[in-house]
Amino acid sequence: MSSKLSPLAVLEILGRYPRVSLAQFPTPLVELRNLSEKLGGPRIFIKRDDMTGFALGGTKARMLEFHLGDAKRRNCDVTVLLASAQSNYCRQLAAAASKLGMETVLLLGGSSDEEVQGNLLLDKLLGAEIRYVEPVGDYFSEEGIRKFNEIHRQVVKELFHKGRRPVVIDKVHRTSIWSMAGTIHCAVETALQLEELDLTADYFYVPLGSGATFNGVFLGTKACGLPTEVVGVVCGTRREGRREALAKRASEAAKRLGVPVDATADELVLLHGYAGDKHWWPSKEGTEAIRLVARTEGIFLDPVYSSKAMAALIDEIRQGHFRRDETVVLLHTGGTPTLYAFARQLLDE
Ligand SMILES: Cc1ncc(COP(=O)(O)O)c(C=O)c1O
Repeated sequence: MSSKLSPLAVLEILGRYPRVSLAQFPTPLVELRNLSEKLGGPRIFIKRDDMTGFALGGTKARMLEFHLGDAKRRNCDVTVLLASAQSNYCRQLAAAASKLGMETVLLLGGSSDEEVQGNLLLDKLLGAEIRYVEPVGDYFSEEGIRKFNEIHRQVVKELFHKGRRPVVIDKVHRTSIWSMAGTIHCAVETALQLEELDLTADYFYVPLGSGATFNGVFLGTKACGLPTEVVGVVCGTRREGRREALAKRASEAAKRLGVPVDATADELVLLHGYAGDKHWWPSKEGTEAIRLVARTEGIFLDPVYSSKAMAALIDEIRQGHFRRDETVVLLHTGGTPTLYAFARQLLDE
């Protein structure tokens, strides 16, 4: 199903849903002229969602505006999330909850001797209640999702028994329509910024974990009928070929949101091979990308997501995939606090 709505018409659809205000939009769209020149590449723009202006930045603020808008409408008073100790989502969720007068329980995979750095430090400063749980392995595998939801459900039940009203952010909800609403918003905002420059992106590179960010950018781009190829750079090591599942989730979300598009597996473009050797860990090529972008543009990518998307883009430029007159946008999804948590690995490379 294709559509050609104006960006404003897509924003109008999103405007029908409850939403809280957390971040500052639009985030800057910045041309990386030095990098492009150095690589002999296409025009490269970076969409700076690391500058959402909330709790040290990140795309998740867009998602949480919708997610917690819905939670507030339902009078929820506590949020619960299970993730790793360096989760960017946890930091932004705890910050959003604080701002909205809600509490946060974070179930972190690991133990209390985890180094207090990066996001974990910020979670503590935000006053989130932290409980350590056995790591669930790959959060995005069937087994990981099952374990994740089981632990999560127990805590939600406990909170209900205490008379609390928790927001349920389980694995399904986390990649839910609200997350995609947030990143549809991001795609449309970027399209409007490019329109002002009289440009359309030929490619939009997006780091991919669970895929909610990628899915939303894909749906927003398709809803506007743009000729942009949205490229998801797979950042975790343990998942291959889940385009069917992503397409199904994207289509369901679009339907529920009333955005008249769908996604089919064969139109989703995923790039594998840039995640590195270790799950949710910096990669060698990503670390090189961090250095190169810092040294040419003074911009810091994060070690687990945007650096890998940039490493993929750099590699493809070097392989001659692009013409000089093409335009590429890369979404910087935030996550820069983890630079501190991975200091040793980043210097070792
Ligand atoms: C900074 C950052 N970028 C990208 C992602 C991946 O987003 P998604 O899980 O929606 O694919 C995450 C996920 O936690 C993240 O924290």
